[in-house]
Amino acid sequence: MKRLTGFTASCCRSFLTSPLRRDLSLTSQSIVLKEFVDSGLPEPDHFKIQAELFDEEKAKSDLQDGGFIVEVKALSVDPFQRATIRSDGKHKSAVKVGEPLNGFVVGNITHSKNSHWKVGDLFGAGLPFVTRQIVTPEILKKTAIWKLTGHVTDENLTYGLGILGMPGSTAYGGLTDILRPKKGETIFISSASGTVGGLVGMMAKQIFECKTIGSCGGPAKGEFIKNVYGFDHAIDYKQAKSVDDLVIMLKEVAPKGIDMYFENVGGIHFEAAFQSLRPGGRIAVCGFISEYNNDIPNLSSFNPMNMIYTHQRIEGFVCIPWLIGKRGTFLADVSKWLKEGKLVVHETKFNGIEKWPQAFQALFTGNYKGKIVVTV
Ligand SMILES: NC(=O)c1ccc[n+]([C@@H]2O[C@H](COP(=O)([O-])OP(=O)(O)OC[C@H]3O[C@@H](n4cnc5c(N)ncnc54)[C@H](OP(=O)(O)O)[C@@H]3O)[C@@H](O)[C@H]2O)c1
Repeated sequence: MKRLTGFTASCCRSFLTSPLRRDLSLTSQSIVLKEFVDSGLPEPDHFKIQAELFDEEKAKSDLQDGGFIVEVKALSVDPFQRATIRSDGKHKSAVKVGEPLNGFVVGNITHSKNSHWKVGDLFGAGLPFVTRQIVTPEILKKTAIWKLTGHVTDENLTYGLGILGMPGSTAYGGLTDILRPKKGETIFISSASGTVGGLVGMMAKQIFECKTIGSCGGPAKGEFIKNVYGFDHAIDYKQAKSVDDLVIMLKEVAPKGIDMYFENVGGIHFEAAFQSLRPGGRIAVCGFISEYNNDIPNLSSFNPMNMIYTHQRIEGFVCIPWLIGKRGTFLADVSKWLKEGKLVVHETKFNGIEKWPQAFQALFTGNYKGKIVVTV
């Protein structure tokens, strides 16, 4: 692959209107980290869009047995990516300045020397944010990749970034295997208007027949989670100034307490949920989004001694085993529930790779609902 030059988003736009753009097969674009972001909100200037020549014929002749060439059609924005752009390099998918970002993508196979993957197959995967690339057998050993053919079409391929992708497997694994709901139990879910939280709420209600309480920011989002995702109750956490406030708000809708808490946020949510947890209660620790922009995270305070005679359980987890089919039957189950109309999809789409930084920022400002995706 020959690099044309380091394009900023605006340079890239002029390149993409040049005659070279006429032959799309020559172009590969990537989103590259321009500078580390250790604290605060990531800004568009922290990233740049780079355009490169992609010599498809050479790529085909270089392809090893077991490898294939992909065309990426859409990119995800996910909260975990915040940790990958810090200078400490601690995250498994951490990137260096000048390198393409790592994240989840969907696309199709354009050439293959792998018997499991055919030309035209639709896939979801964790890969660098590069629109045309070779996937070698070595990369396949290290990354999560799953087949979307049969579950989606070109029209709804972006479902592979949400309900049929990493966030969907998070909701599925965290609920079915970590919390293990029983009919009639009460579940509290934070970040309930987000991708994971919304799915947990729908699955808990529609599949496991639980009472669902969701927390989200503002009355409009509260109405949204009740009307679209079918939550029984919505709590506006922005009205809670303290743990005690949130405990009172929970008590109003769950006077006997909660049986399960799906933790996406951290801070006062965790403490209020723990204080409201009934005997035999479970907490699935999925994410702490309220702390991701802080250099030093705030710590929660709680007393685990209370858990002994109440037989309560707190368990952290990462979605990958469910995503790649090592635990449970995520794709088959969620695809079926989707077809049966038990789950609905709400997406916010940004069109154009140059919109990715803006879309990423929206994760932390909360100015959208559902799964945010960027089409290329
Ligand atoms: N363990 C795993 O394997 C795994 C996998 C995927 C995701 N996760 C975690 O799951 C959580 C949700 O991910 P997602 O993909 O559903 O995200 P998402 O769709 O982007 O939703 C994020 C939501 O978080 C809320 N939020 C942002 N800042 C907040 C704050 N300071 N306090 C309270 N709420 C805040 C916003 O809603 P409001 O407007 O309501 O504030 C926003 O809509 C994240 O913590 C993520 O890291 C974990």
